[in-house]
Amino acid sequence: MTNTAPLQGIKVVDFTEVQSGPSCTQMLAWLGADVIKIERPGVGDATRKELQFNPNLPSYYYLQLNSDKRSLTLDAKTPDGKEILTKLIEECDIFVENLHPGAMDKLGFSWEVVHKLNPKCIYGTIKGFPLSSKYKDLKAYEPIAQVTAAAASTTGWYSGDYNIPSQSGAALGDSNTGMHLLIGLLAALQQRNRTGEGSYVYQSMHNACLNLCRIKTRDQLTLEKIGYLSQFPQYPDGKFGDCVPRSGNIEGGGVLGWTYKCKPAGGLDSAIDANNYVYIILQRGVKDFELACQGLGFEDWLTNPDFNTADARDRNKQKIYDRIGAWCADKTKFEVTEILSKYGVPVGPVLSTKEVMSDESLYDGNTLVKINQGGEIGEFVTVGCPFTLSNYQPTYGPAPELGGNTTEVLTELGYTPEQIKSFAANGTTEPLPKTAQPTAPKA
Ligand SMILES: CC(C)(COP(=O)(O)OP(=O)(O)OC[C@H]1O[C@@H](n2cnc3c(N)ncnc32)[C@H](O)[C@@H]1OP(=O)(O)O)[C@@H](O)C(=O)NCCC(=O)NCCS
Repeated sequence: MTNTAPLQGIKVVDFTEVQSGPSCTQMLAWLGADVIKIERPGVGDATRKELQFNPNLPSYYYLQLNSDKRSLTLDAKTPDGKEILTKLIEECDIFVENLHPGAMDKLGFSWEVVHKLNPKCIYGTIKGFPLSSKYKDLKAYEPIAQVTAAAASTTGWYSGDYNIPSQSGAALGDSNTGMHLLIGLLAALQQRNRTGEGSYVYQSMHNACLNLCRIKTRDQLTLEKIGYLSQFPQYPDGKFGDCVPRSGNIEGGGVLGWTYKCKPAGGLDSAIDANNYVYIILQRGVKDFELACQGLGFEDWLTNPDFNTADARDRNKQKIYDRIGAWCADKTKFEVTEILSKYGVPVGPVLSTKEVMSDESLYDGNTLVKINQGGEIGEFVTVGCPFTLSNYQPTYGPAPELGGNTTEVLTELGYTPEQIKSFAANGTTEPLPKTAQPTAPKA
């Protein structure tokens, strides 16, 4: 295997912060690009000081999203800052930003300006909403994307006190948007290889989230045609309104899936047994169903017209949930998984963050990785590059200190030590000293 970084030689100016943008540039760095992260002098990415485990150290939030990047502190509002950023743009391949709508125009580095400075440069941008949307000027964080893209309205419980739009724990609006932008940037790189010209890649959090809600739009179309959705618990006896309801724990497609409570497994599980559950799917195929019945010991279902066809099972899903639920009650989620998987039943234990992160088999060099940050932080765990390439193994290094690469990057741009000193003194790369407070007049 030749170990070749796919993005070797690609230079990225990373004007992103929080999660959506940094998750994209994190992947660019792991694929071998030289990622120069621009951070405000004295402040840096807002996540450096968000949810810290120690007030004197950068947070895991920052560390997990910025490994293997270089940090350049730069105030892009000063004349020198603008000049330095211009130079960086002139020689970079990709410029990425996710500031609030209008901020980049105000700073003087819109797509039009950057394209003129360097026609080869690909410009990636993340905003909350598509340019056509009436919400295009809104600032956006994760939940805003989830609630406005039909994700929250279709997530959560469909009855009882907790029948409220709910958020997914997975970052559909943040890291998912970063991954969508990554696809656009890699496509633009390939396009540039042919045309020689960079393009503008606009990725909204809304569109990234909506893209994952495609099957909910399928359900809306079906609902409008026939007035019901056979895979939902509301079918056949409950009522459907005019929009896709919250789906609880259904599988979402045509197969019958549900979450079942199990016997506490002990060990890693919490005292309240919050995750003693297993997910089991009954497929529609005759052979698959036969095998599932054998595994469960429910062979009587094979000749019972209430259960022996997929359509009948959709109509009687509550009875199925109840019987499988009783079958699971005296087994752990791991026992259920072991028994049913032998019969080819799609099944899996509900795992907590603790269970996933303590599974040594996942420390395979990519799935979960340990990064040595050094100093007081030492080693921390993060999720690695989520795919593997047969001829490239990413390595995972520490996140930069705030401005840790400022001198190095400015030197590479051709600035002299004197100029570099003057940038620090005039507030371009270091915060200006706080002006002395006027002393109170003596009485
Ligand atoms: C995340 C978000 C809500 C934060 O908004 P915010 O608190 O206004 O913070 P921003 O970083 O966008 O901008 C704050 C200011 O810092 C300035 N700034 C940021 N980096 C700077 C730098 N290196 N030099 C000079 N100024 C800088 C911006 O220009 C802006 O100035 P302005 O208010 O005068 O226009 C907003 O950036 C946003 O909606 N982004 C798009 C969607 C997104 O990616 N959301 C994050 C999901 S994780």
